[in-house]
Amino acid sequence: MVSKDEVLDALRSVTDPELHKDLVTLNMVREIQVDGGRVTFTLNLTTPACPLRSKIEQDARNAVASIKGVTTVEMKVGAQVAATHPFGESSVLKNVKNIIAVASGKGGVGKSTVAVNLALALSGSGAKVGILDADIYGPNIPLMMGVNERPAMRGDTIIPLVAHGIKVASLGFFYKDETALVWRGPMVAGAVKQLLTQVDWGDLDYLITDLPPGTGDSGLTLAQTVPLGGVVIVTTPQEAALNIATKAVGMFRKLNVPILGIVENMSYFVCPHCGEKSFIFSSGGGRKASTLLGVQFLGEIPLYPRIREQSDIGVPIVVAAPDSPESLAFKDVAFRVAGMVSMVAYNQSQ
Ligand SMILES: Nc1ncnc2c1ncn2[C@@H]1O[C@H](COP(=O)(O)OP(=O)(O)OP(=O)(O)O)[C@@H](O)[C@H]1O
Ligand SMILES: [Mg+2]
Repeated sequence: MVSKDEVLDALRSVTDPELHKDLVTLNMVREIQVDGGRVTFTLNLTTPACPLRSKIEQDARNAVASIKGVTTVEMKVGAQVAATHPFGESSVLKNVKNIIAVASGKGGVGKSTVAVNLALALSGSGAKVGILDADIYGPNIPLMMGVNERPAMRGDTIIPLVAHGIKVASLGFFYKDETALVWRGPMVAGAVKQLLTQVDWGDLDYLITDLPPGTGDSGLTLAQTVPLGGVVIVTTPQEAALNIATKAVGMFRKLNVPILGIVENMSYFVCPHCGEKSFIFSSGGGRKASTLLGVQFLGEIPLYPRIREQSDIGVPIVVAAPDSPESLAFKDVAFRVAGMVSMVAYNQSQ
């Protein structure tokens, strides 16, 4: 007769390759039942965007099947995203598990593009996702997500719009004219706070927040208003990328925000005619910066005209062509971000 302890011991030999912890320690093993040689259990992957999901599933199944006396393994797979910072019961954000910022020390490197496609890739993997446009000065999210109408209100609460399956809130929904608004620090802080606490975000695994360029008021307010689950730093491949990433990493470290890692955007251009890769902005700056700064490298996104074209028509590439190489690059980044978030949550719970 096989015992539950034998099953647990077998599953302790399987490690999550991204988190370097065994499945039992990560609280991923639930509901073990043994009936003669038949073993049933649930494997909870902690996030639907679990990196190397099929490998973990296979390893877990093999580990249990190799126990002497086991004839049948029935493994159910669940996915519950871990929360990095449980908000108190009284918080309006109590059902939001992770708030993730996307930032850079510089403008125009593709923060909003990465934020939108990262959000959609996480959502595509089964997570509940929202996107908050904290770029008060030049909100791009409405254009990129293809939504722009005044949201409905319930009393003082803003009901977020929904586009491509994710909740969206942006100050861009509230002012239509193109006149540049002059924002002073306290106004920025107030606007970011409103988008966080006055929007009915409901139940979310990830709330992705797109920050304006630089290390200014929006990022500060965000980090000081809510405990952030982490920040994704976007950079480009040039040598100068190191300075950009260093500034951003420095600011968020000072604010005690976990650095989830660095994404290198516009890494290389793939010729649509011959398929040859050209490294227009040099190569390797993002990876080098992550090594020097001691943070995770989250991946490379190619410079590809279709990425911009799709953003401009409000149907981001991850939705328009989910299996294209560009989308797969975004999905890889999303997997790694999910893995890092899960690791931060695990470390906080210890
Ligand atoms: N990988 C890419 N391939 C092609 N075009 C891209 C890529 N990444 C971003 N772009 C385009 O580059 C421009 C700038 O990108 P984006 O708006 O995402 O940058 P940003 O860092 O958010 O800018 P800002 O600092 O102004 O907020 C956009 O037109 C976008 O569509
Ligand atoms: Mg932007």
